[in-house]
Amino acid sequence: TPAPPCTIVIFGARGDLTKRLLMPSIYNLVHAGLLDKRTSILGVDHNDLSSDDWRRMLSDTLGELAADPHAEFRADKVDPATWKWVTDRLEYLTADFDSDETYRKLNEKIQGNAVFYLAVSARFFGPVIERLGHAGLLEEKGAAGTAGSQGAVFRRVIIEKPFGSDLASACELNKRILAVADESQYYRIDHFLGKDAVQSLLAMRFANRFFEAAWRAESVDHVQISAVETIGVGSRGNFYETTGALRDMVPNHLFQLLSMTGIEAPTSLSAQAVRDAKTAFVKAAEAVKVEDIVRGQYAAGKIDGVAVKGYREEDKVASDSTTETYIALKLAIDTPRWKGVPFYLRTGKRLGGRFTEIAIHFKPEPYGLFAAASGHKAAGQGGAAQGRTPNAAAGQGCAPLRTGGQQVDPASNVLTIQIDPKHGAAATFNVKVPGPLSRIGEVESSFDFADFFGEQSNVGYESLIYECLLGDATLFQRADTIEASWAAVQPVIDLAAKGAQPESYAAGSAGPTGADTLLSRDGRAWTPID
Ligand code: BG6
Repeated sequence: TPAPPCTIVIFGARGDLTKRLLMPSIYNLVHAGLLDKRTSILGVDHNDLSSDDWRRMLSDTLGELAADPHAEFRADKVDPATWKWVTDRLEYLTADFDSDETYRKLNEKIQGNAVFYLAVSARFFGPVIERLGHAGLLEEKGAAGTAGSQGAVFRRVIIEKPFGSDLASACELNKRILAVADESQYYRIDHFLGKDAVQSLLAMRFANRFFEAAWRAESVDHVQISAVETIGVGSRGNFYETTGALRDMVPNHLFQLLSMTGIEAPTSLSAQAVRDAKTAFVKAAEAVKVEDIVRGQYAAGKIDGVAVKGYREEDKVASDSTTETYIALKLAIDTPRWKGVPFYLRTGKRLGGRFTEIAIHFKPEPYGLFAAASGHKAAGQGGAAQGRTPNAAAGQGCAPLRTGGQQVDPASNVLTIQIDPKHGAAATFNVKVPGPLSRIGEVESSFDFADFFGEQSNVGYESLIYECLLGDATLFQRADTIEASWAAVQPVIDLAAKGAQPESYAAGSAGPTGADTLLSRDGRAWTPID
């Protein structure tokens, strides 16, 4: 069903986010028949452009993305009729975000339902929302939360990240925006919640008895959440210097993965129930201890054989910067389900590989029936899974992950939820190696969403925009969840504020050695990066 008619107002219409992510997502929504024909899109930005200029600019970017085999936007070629549908509904308004005049003009142009999308720098969030509120643009009519109800008008605001820069500023921003509109009108976005594999976590956990039964401290040894990247800060030096890896990734993106992995079953799939469960879970995350924090910063090195600069040599970065480009943390969750189960989180730029995944490491098998009688173990085979799967693509045959010439202990099972670039999951098992001897071999079974449901052209914002138009806030962040997330990581911010030096790591490596120690002191090891 198409979403109700609405004017989508995009602040930051000329920005990269609008061109590369929002418009392709809107295109995909139109292509799927999910937008009402009375939808209109009003772009607002300070650059002096005509609506035609804006249309041309967006068309050029869409064409580039469609031609780029690495872009998430997968349309082989843009369907002209669908794109015309979009461009026919575009209008551009040259306007200053700080001027009353802008909001007066908006009031003239907007009659019914409206969603204000703040694709702008975080410093504008508070001021723009206050001005929208004071101009009466956030006033709803009737049962506004109920999509499509007669005579009702909704007014909603989508807020990009970062929401605040620490606990105090997030609380302050919440207070400011809640003074001009109701919590139900705010949709704080986190694009990790737009990823299908993340949304699927609830279904995997709560629609499968065998996952749910083992998803707890009795069976789980620890959990690793990784978002490792090969890219550096590129042209974002200015932004990154005051942001750093923690603020950029942890209380937002990694906490989405953390909470979808750890929450208790919500009482229903309603936005309120899911968000209540998330908040309860995040509140149970204990504030990270200083000895469980590892901050790193990349030095010069090589990525795929190509020499790259160190962070301090990047454009608009101070030569003595102490901003972290890598962060690893160990978190404890104080709930009966997770008592004693550490959650290790890591993210960093300029590492030797790129993947986002959640790895659930199960405890060793309980019986000891297959333990190596001789006490021999193949070299380097501890409790943690060794290495990632050899590519077991169809037709190439599959190699077991490990079998020894002699008997080896069964490896602990690992279930890996693959978010990016793979979209699926893989689980390792122990089996008996065929043949007369009781030898154990470790194998992997995996699936990819595309194999079952086809390749999707999903840029990542489609479901978020659509759900907001429907008035379903399940995939958005509530004020209390955001504040609880900041509270859990505030000790890292305090440590950085004292000028603590991050540990240096070479670009293209696995990150700072301190991150390995964080796990090895607990007798564990990270999933290798390359
Ligand atoms: C953004 C961060 O929010 O997420 C970037 O600002 C990061 O620094 C990006 O690279 C990662 O998202 P994705 O979807 O590419 O994994």
